[in-house]
Amino acid sequence: MRVRKAVIPAAGLGTRFLPATKALAKEMFPIIDKPTIQFIVEEAKKSGIEDILVVTGKGKRPIEDHFDSVPELEQNLKEKGKNDLLKLVQQTTDINLYFIRQSHPRGLGDAVLMAKDFVGNEPFVVMLGDDLMRDKVPLTKQLINRYDQTHASTLAVMRVPHDQVYKYGVIDPGTEVSQGLYDVKKFVEKPAVDKAPSDLAIIGRYLLTPEIFDMLETQKPGAGHEIQLTDAIDRLNKIQRVFAHEFKGERFDVGYKFGFLKTSIQFGLDHPEVKDDLKNYIKELAKTLK
Ligand code: UTP
Repeated sequence: MRVRKAVIPAAGLGTRFLPATKALAKEMFPIIDKPTIQFIVEEAKKSGIEDILVVTGKGKRPIEDHFDSVPELEQNLKEKGKNDLLKLVQQTTDINLYFIRQSHPRGLGDAVLMAKDFVGNEPFVVMLGDDLMRDKVPLTKQLINRYDQTHASTLAVMRVPHDQVYKYGVIDPGTEVSQGLYDVKKFVEKPAVDKAPSDLAIIGRYLLTPEIFDMLETQKPGAGHEIQLTDAIDRLNKIQRVFAHEFKGERFDVGYKFGFLKTSIQFGLDHPEVKDDLKNYIKELAKTLK
């Protein structure tokens, strides 16, 4: 069956960005001029996804507004002949987006469970807004290509420095069944550094079969007293094969302050409007640093 649905969980509290996230969803924070969630939606579109469900919570209305049309603004830009800007504004409306609310942020697993009716009996992808990916083929498309061969759930993983593994879901890899595709013995959410089975960490893209919902419905809270998607995937792995696909492209974690800042600089250095000024600024700044 073709993979055509995506779920973007965006109902977390974003505590690492307080106080900014008191009233504004972190998914709306822009990298230069584009909210982070728009990068995710664009990756989905480029990967052939047709329908997207965004799981939202309190204070997330601006996400809905961002992907809606704004007739007054569009009319104004048209009258002033600002066609480039008009195109940018209209670009955000040409995909089927649906929204559902998770009234209590009980964890990522619970947020994904909210998508059960939307997904139905199809394979689907989960895309986390904290991770922006760059590669020739979008990571979501890479996972879909794997699924087309294996018809099994496949998670994206990446090697991270060993002292960082406690922040991630980590896999215990089995055999490498084909280049960069691993059988998985076990999935562990946020392991202690000395107990981590490997340095292969789950990054924010998952291709899942609908049987994951049976696991989520009975999933007990795990690390951080939250209903963890990783724990449900570990149980799924006991009844059907789950693979891990190693991502070799670039990953930008915008879910914490320094990561967000680094991403802004990296993307700024590629942004046609600001790249030259930014480069000069960094060069001058570097001279003043010890
Ligand atoms: P995080 O663990 O990054 O939590 O969630 P968070 O709330 O977004 O941010 P911090 O850690 O408090 O700063 C991972 C992903 O799961 C979603 C989040 O929106 C994020 O995309 N999530 C998490 C939910 O949708 N619901 C939840 O109950 C928990």
